Amino acid sequence: MESDMSKIILGPMDGVAKYLPSDSVVIITDNNVRKYYGEKFPNAEIIEIEAGEEIKTLKTVESIYQQLLSLEADRSWFVLGIGGGVVTDIAGFVASTYMRGIEFGFIPTTFLAQVDASIGGKNGVNLRGYKNIIGTIRQPKFILCDTGLLKTLPKNEIKNGFVEVIKHAAIGNAKLFSLLEKNHETALLLDDNIIKKIVHDSIKVKTTIVKKDETEKLERMKLNFGHTIGHAIEKITHVPHGEAIAVGMVAECKLFSSMGLVKSEDTGRLENLIKLYGLPTAIRCMKSDIAETIRKDKKRRNNNVILPVLNGIGKCRLVDIELNKLEAAINDMC
Ligand SMILES: NC(=O)c1ccc[n+]([C@@H]2O[C@H](COP(=O)([O-])OP(=O)(O)OC[C@H]3O[C@@H](n4cnc5c(N)ncnc54)[C@H](O)[C@@H]3O)[C@@H](O)[C@H]2O)c1
Ligand SMILES: [Zn+2]
Repeated sequence: MESDMSKIILGPMDGVAKYLPSDSVVIITDNNVRKYYGEKFPNAEIIEIEAGEEIKTLKTVESIYQQLLSLEADRSWFVLGIGGGVVTDIAGFVASTYMRGIEFGFIPTTFLAQVDASIGGKNGVNLRGYKNIIGTIRQPKFILCDTGLLKTLPKNEIKNGFVEVIKHAAIGNAKLFSLLEKNHETALLLDDNIIKKIVHDSIKVKTTIVKKDETEKLERMKLNFGHTIGHAIEKITHVPHGEAIAVGMVAECKLFSSMGLVKSEDTGRLENLIKLYGLPTAIRCMKSDIAETIRKDKKRRNNNVILPVLNGIGKCRLVDIELNKLEAAINDMC
C-alpha cells in the first residue's frame, strides 16, 4: 500500500531486508517480542527493553540513547522498531530525537500497533501520569505489517485492537463496517484473508485522515471518536484502553443522539457490532465524574470541545460544543 508519508507493506517479516539499508541498522524491541520472534529478526544490532506501558518513560529513552552512543551510531544509522505500540512509540521518539533525527521503520507486532499505533507518525512517552505528553510527529520510512505475527497474541490484545478497527470503520468506511458485521467469527479467529483486508482498510482510513492534517489542526481530530468520554472512563475506572473506548464510542453516539445529531439506528448498529466482538458497551461509573474528568483534561485549550460525530455509518463530521453544554448533556444522559 502506498501512502505519501510512509511506505506501508502487508507481508511477511522476513521480507524486511529489502527496505533496510545494507548496514548500520539497530533494532529496538521488547523482551517478549524478541523471545517469540528474535530468530526471524534481520541481521542487526539489537537494543532490548522490558515489555509494558510502565517502560514508556524518558528514563528508557535515555538508556537507549546511551546504548546508541556505545554502538557509535551516527546520523547514517537506521532504527527498526519491532513490537507493539509501546515499542513503536519509543523507537519513533528515539529515532526522531537522536542526533536531531535519524531514519526509522517499524514492524508492528500487535493488532493495535498494525491498525493504529504505528500509523500516522505520532510517537512519544509518558511523564508523571500524563500519557504521551512528550513526543514528536515524524513519519517512519516504512511500516511492514505481518498479520502472521498476530497468532501469538493473547485474546484480549486482539479484542482491544478491534476497537480501533471499529472506530476507523465507523468514521471512514461503511463497507469495512459491514464486513466486520458479517465476518465477526472468522475475524476473531484471525482468518488470514479477512484479517489482511481488515488491517489494510483500517490503515487506509487512518492514513487518509492523517494525510489531510498531519499535525492535528482539525481533520485528524476525527480519530478521537469515542476517545473524549472513553479517556475519562479509562482514567476513572482503569479498565483497558480498548474497553473504555468501546464504551466511549457508544456513549458519545447516545449523547449526540439525544441532541438529535446522530440517528438512533446508527447508534444501535455500532452498539451491536461492539457486542459481536465481545466488548462492553456500558460501564458502571458516575456521570458527574466523567464530566469533571473531561473538564480537567490538561490538553484542553478553552471552554469548548471539538468532537467527532457520526454522519451515518462510515462518515463523520466535527462539532464544536461548549464544555458546559457537554457536561449538562452527560449528566442528563440515561
Ligand atoms: N502513536 C500512536 O498514534 C498511538 C495510537 C494508539 C496507541 N498508541 C500507544 O500504543 C501503546 C499500546 O500498544 P499495544 O497495545 O501494542 O501494547 P504493547 O506494546 O504493550 O504490547 C502488548 C503486549 O503484547 C506483547 N506482544 C507484542 N507483540 C506480540 C506478539 N506478536 N505476540 C505475543 N505478544 C506480543 C508485548 O510484549 C506486550 O507485552 C500505548 O502506549 C499507546 O499509547 C500509540
Ligand atoms: Zn485509542
